Amino acid sequence: MSDTTDAKPQSKAVFVKSYGCQMNVYDSQRMADVMGAEGYREVATPEEADLILLNTCHIRERAAEKVYHELGRIRELKQTAKSEGRKVLIGVAGCVAQAEGEEIVKRAKYVDLVVGPQSYHRLPDLVARAGIQPGVVDTEFPVEDKFAKLPKPAEAKARSRGISAFVTVQEGCDKFCTFCVVPYTRGAEVSRPVTAIIAEVEALAEAGVREVSLLGQNVNAYHGEGPNGGEWTLARLLRRLAEVPGILRLRYTTSHPSEMSDDLIEAHRDLGALMPSLHLPVQSGSNRILAAMNRKHDRDSYFRTIDRLRAARPDIAFSSDFIIGFPGETDADFEDTMELIRQVGFAAAYSFKYSIRPGTPGAEMDGQIDEAVKTERLYAVQALITSQQRAFQQSLVGQTIEVLFERAGRKFGQQVGRSPYLSPVQVMAPSSLAGRIERIRIIGTETNSLNGELVDPISARAVQAAE
Ligand code: 5AD
Ligand code: SF4
Repeated sequence: MSDTTDAKPQSKAVFVKSYGCQMNVYDSQRMADVMGAEGYREVATPEEADLILLNTCHIRERAAEKVYHELGRIRELKQTAKSEGRKVLIGVAGCVAQAEGEEIVKRAKYVDLVVGPQSYHRLPDLVARAGIQPGVVDTEFPVEDKFAKLPKPAEAKARSRGISAFVTVQEGCDKFCTFCVVPYTRGAEVSRPVTAIIAEVEALAEAGVREVSLLGQNVNAYHGEGPNGGEWTLARLLRRLAEVPGILRLRYTTSHPSEMSDDLIEAHRDLGALMPSLHLPVQSGSNRILAAMNRKHDRDSYFRTIDRLRAARPDIAFSSDFIIGFPGETDADFEDTMELIRQVGFAAAYSFKYSIRPGTPGAEMDGQIDEAVKTERLYAVQALITSQQRAFQQSLVGQTIEVLFERAGRKFGQQVGRSPYLSPVQVMAPSSLAGRIERIRIIGTETNSLNGELVDPISARAVQAAE
């Protein structure tokens, strides 16, 4: 029947917009979950929402400006709603909230609440307070574990997460690279306890998830409390999660090169479920710049780590991050970066112009690089990376790879999944393949995806399954 006859008060709606990293995507889901427990349903557009949350990122340039710009647009929605007799609350979460704090409500008075990444479990209370008295700010680093207080995915009415899900296992960073705000916005390194992670992954598997990506700013530095006390490494955690029924694939990101321990490399050798694809940001190929960045690794140790991983898992592919134009970067330093890229050969990489983050040591350094020089170097590095990326995609043509299918494609009869290397793969198939791994022969490439065909005829598999 129509819900107009329903005597219950209409549920409220929350819209969460995520910027930046996958950890924010995960946090956004958890914010929607925690508000879901308060009767808020999640909606896909801000126009429909009673509570609009921007989950912001502060890692690179103009982050705060982008947020203020977006807030300006949302303010109009709030005003329109008010003229229709509806109250809309606006909240800013994430790393810009942490970094700017009170400044946000001073500069944008129509913002009702500001909440830092460590306080999301307090959101219902903050929203209630903001409803009475706007301008609530909570950017503390509380001692309690926010994950323990947030609803478990299963409790969150098993909201569909699709085939692939993120699970944050570690937050924060103690490395203090001199360019980076993360240690200041996300705080010190904290690992979640093993039991909580296993329970979450089991619940996801029961809800149909087949691939889990473990997230952390420094995920390979994971050192969570084990079920019987003692600390578990990431490798041990991965070995245990590979045993969870239903979980077919595991990934983890983002890693620090200095934390690629022997046991983690051995996990790559031993665990079929651990995908042969690793994001290992190097930032620069110059030892001088790596030292100035306080990276705690040099180019040779990076090469050695790559070699050890390739020996353990010959089909492994690497991706990385590069910062171009860090203070003091000479042409020779930049050439070292280009040479490192040529030597490793990446399947993908992200490159960014260095951007000053106020409060970090890099901001105070002499030798800031001219914008035009940064731009020129960035183009050169991006051209090289693009050519490597194309070569990698092309190298898969003719190969048979395993694809985990996720959903129907745009074309009729098409199914879309992901390769072990995360590229989307399209095939034509007689029925849905969602949630299954199939062997696919790659027959061609598109700009950002691969075309393939099923190697094992579906009918043969159906017979096998029936046996
Ligand atoms: N300027 C440019 N890029 C940065 N990153 C982090 N801080 C900065 C900065 N100040 C990049 C790094 C990191 C990625 C997530 O963002 O390459 O690995
Ligand atoms: Fe930032 Fe460095 Fe920590 Fe990565 S390791 S989050 S770049 S400080």
